[in-house]
Amino acid sequence: MIIPQEKLDEIVQASDIVDVISSYAQVKRRGKAFLALCPFHPDKNPSLNISQQKQVYHCFACGASGNVFTFVMEYDKITFVEAAAKLAFRAGIELNIRSTTPDVSNEISRLYEINKSAAKFFFEKLQNVSGYEKDFLTEYIKNRDIKKDTMRKFGIGYAEKEWDSLLNHFKEENIFTEEDIEKAGLIIKNEKGKYYDRFRGRLMFPIFSENDKVVGFGGRKLYEDETGGKYLNSPETRIYSKSRILYGLNFSRESIRALDYVLLVEGYMDLISLHQAGFHNVVASSGTALTVEQVQLIARYTKNIVMNYDADLAGIKATKRGIELVLEAGLELTVVTLPEGEDPDSFIKNKGKEEFEVFLNNRKSIIEFISELYIKENKLNSVQERTDYIKEIIGYISRIPDSIKRAFFIKDIATKYGLYESDLRDELEKAIKTFKKEYYPKSSIVLPEKKTFKKQDKKKIDRAEIDLLDILVNGDNKAIEYLENNLDVQFIQDETVLKITTELLDEYMNEGKIDVSKIINKLEDTQAKTLLGSVSTAKYEVSKSEKFANNNTLLSKTERKLTNYLKVAKDVIKNFQISLRQRKIDELLKGGSDPTEIIRLKREINDLQKN
Ligand code: CTP
Ligand code: MN
Repeated sequence: MIIPQEKLDEIVQASDIVDVISSYAQVKRRGKAFLALCPFHPDKNPSLNISQQKQVYHCFACGASGNVFTFVMEYDKITFVEAAAKLAFRAGIELNIRSTTPDVSNEISRLYEINKSAAKFFFEKLQNVSGYEKDFLTEYIKNRDIKKDTMRKFGIGYAEKEWDSLLNHFKEENIFTEEDIEKAGLIIKNEKGKYYDRFRGRLMFPIFSENDKVVGFGGRKLYEDETGGKYLNSPETRIYSKSRILYGLNFSRESIRALDYVLLVEGYMDLISLHQAGFHNVVASSGTALTVEQVQLIARYTKNIVMNYDADLAGIKATKRGIELVLEAGLELTVVTLPEGEDPDSFIKNKGKEEFEVFLNNRKSIIEFISELYIKENKLNSVQERTDYIKEIIGYISRIPDSIKRAFFIKDIATKYGLYESDLRDELEKAIKTFKKEYYPKSSIVLPEKKTFKKQDKKKIDRAEIDLLDILVNGDNKAIEYLENNLDVQFIQDETVLKITTELLDEYMNEGKIDVSKIINKLEDTQAKTLLGSVSTAKYEVSKSEKFANNNTLLSKTERKLTNYLKVAKDVIKNFQISLRQRKIDELLKGGSDPTEIIRLKREINDLQKN
């Protein structure tokens, strides 16, 4: 499928990068620049810089860079054509793509296709079962109060008890290899090398990615004689990572944004029942302890989290760990506690949605939640018990990044329990120290384990080469033309800089101007993308102005505007000419010197320096 250039141009015109990224993340304006929490790594402070003028983004923490297409591709893990189609749809541009055959061109798309095919298979099985299974399943679904529309919306299906039901389906389809189906997590090889179905005798919940693609499954046990746990999930695959997925987010994202809070629950069925009852702003962590990645995922839609985990011991433990993570991410948190033994699914079934709403409206602050736990266990009597309680609360508060917010919490507790604020503050200081030790074990910033983008080591590149890129990207025509006329390939030492410079100058010669967003998309090398991204977004301009001001104070905006790029270009070329001669001298000195040549070069350097 090839999208005609005119269509692509139309899509580019209609897809402003700030608008598009705003529909994925909260974007804030800061001067000329736009900032957002970077969705490509766990980000605490907004490090994704977006340049509206140049239509590119760059993350100063992880190095992710690109234009509006790359953003959508990376974010949704889709191909260029899919991203273009998505942007076209968003802008109301008609694109007649309809692919009837599955895309099997690469492993990732095969894994998606396999999951999609399996989801259809399970869904149709549930619709068409017969015999004793039909009676059993009808009864089960009736008991669980799952409506027909709900089954369709969530694609709920059935995996038969047979060992090879899905396997045979794929054999008939004859599109995918057993190896690929195994990689998708749907079949398993036994010791004899024969494959069999992973999911048997289970109610199947497809797990969707944020953009509605099936990436895996959760299977609920149906028959007592089946082995294995109550729920069985797809294993980690190239398209499914348990810690990075929130079940139901694809159905909930709009409602979360509209209501500006999310209800966080534990189970598949909790989410489904809530949706069915009209609560659409829900996501489920699906049995894993909440992860940093999941919290970051939520943070892109809202800052307000309402936790509604089970009221059992495991649920309380999970809630406490969740509170820590949410506070560390600087988000707001309240807690809904249902009567013991109930989860949202069972509660709605037993008591109805109005009653649920009462509990939802009575959600508690963290302080209330923790104090109720102590009260319930009758543990707030002795001085020691109350001290433990206050210390636990302060432990949570110590994780809040915002010091003003911490101060408000401390004030609250002081008033509520008649304590001196100063004592509480001393305790808070201690807790912050302990927390920092635990959080930054070697006092270094924790980086994501799987880094997709490697940060460019800028120090190795010569300053003049960075300035060269800066002029090409930010400078005026006069400065660029000066470079065009005076630049020599020999000047540039760094391969990445050379690659980018060639592309940029080419573009300038052909088009009369430089469209950074186009070039960043064209560059295939990640390092080159990252470097160009960093030069093109605002933060670099700040560091650059430091240099021009020759001290540590930042230049004001107007001063920065007045940067005389032509003068900088002349300086850059001069520096290049000097370095080139210096390198020649070094070579001559190494390989048996030629004194007259060295003297000549030194004289040239002197002359250059004088001008
Ligand atoms: N879970 C899991 N593996 C298990 C048990 C649970 O992945 N062996 C996950 C599932 O996502 C499940 C969630 O944890 O939905 C909550 O588990 P639990 O409270 O035990 O189940 P319920 O959701 O209440 O399941 P049900 O109502 O079907 O009994
Ligand atoms: Mn349940």
